[in-house]
Amino acid sequence: MKTNFILIAITAVVVSSCNHKMTSIPKNEVKSTANAEGLKLFQQNCYACHSVTTKSHDEIIAPPMAAVKRRYMMEYDTKENFVKAVVSYAIDPKEENALMIGAVNNFNVMPKQAFSEDDLIKIASYIYDNEIESPKWFEDHFQENHKNGQGMGNGRNK
Ligand code: HEC
Repeated sequence: MKTNFILIAITAVVVSSCNHKMTSIPKNEVKSTANAEGLKLFQQNCYACHSVTTKSHDEIIAPPMAAVKRRYMMEYDTKENFVKAVVSYAIDPKEENALMIGAVNNFNVMPKQAFSEDDLIKIASYIYDNEIESPKWFEDHFQENHKNGQGMGNGRNK
């Protein structure tokens, strides 16, 4: 009986110290396995072009995903609509559906690729739910070129 009690006590201590560890995960670490999967798919499928590690504006071949997110957040106010819009664009990119006319002019339309719709939903949800890293130069470029909301998709001033 006594040993049972000691065992229970030890288990309780171990369990509660695990709980404690759970709550002290740093903010930026993935929140759940769904997110971890979304991030992995995002990196595998989109980073090649929508990279966050390019060193300058001249090296990029597509807008950083943080820029895409910002533009889509302006247009779509719910997660559902945001995810739908990103998925349908990525599945079949067409110039007439593009919101980022400046980017289309600079880089041409995103090439059509064989993404799975399920993966795209996970990727788009990840993008919506998480802060997407943006390259350092991007903030400067954004402040400089998109003052007062100019150049945000109207295509007249890139
Ligand atoms: C082969 C390069 C390439 C890959 C890989 C790529 N993209 Fe793109 N993407 C582009 C380019 C170039 C643009 C800018 C031109 C445009 O808007 O179509 C773009 C633009 C976009 C836009 C904004 C479209 C608009 O103008 O409204 C979305 C959304 C997008 N990409 C999603 C994705 C997602 C999600 C992935 C990964 C599943 C992905 N892209 C992978 C090249 C790529």
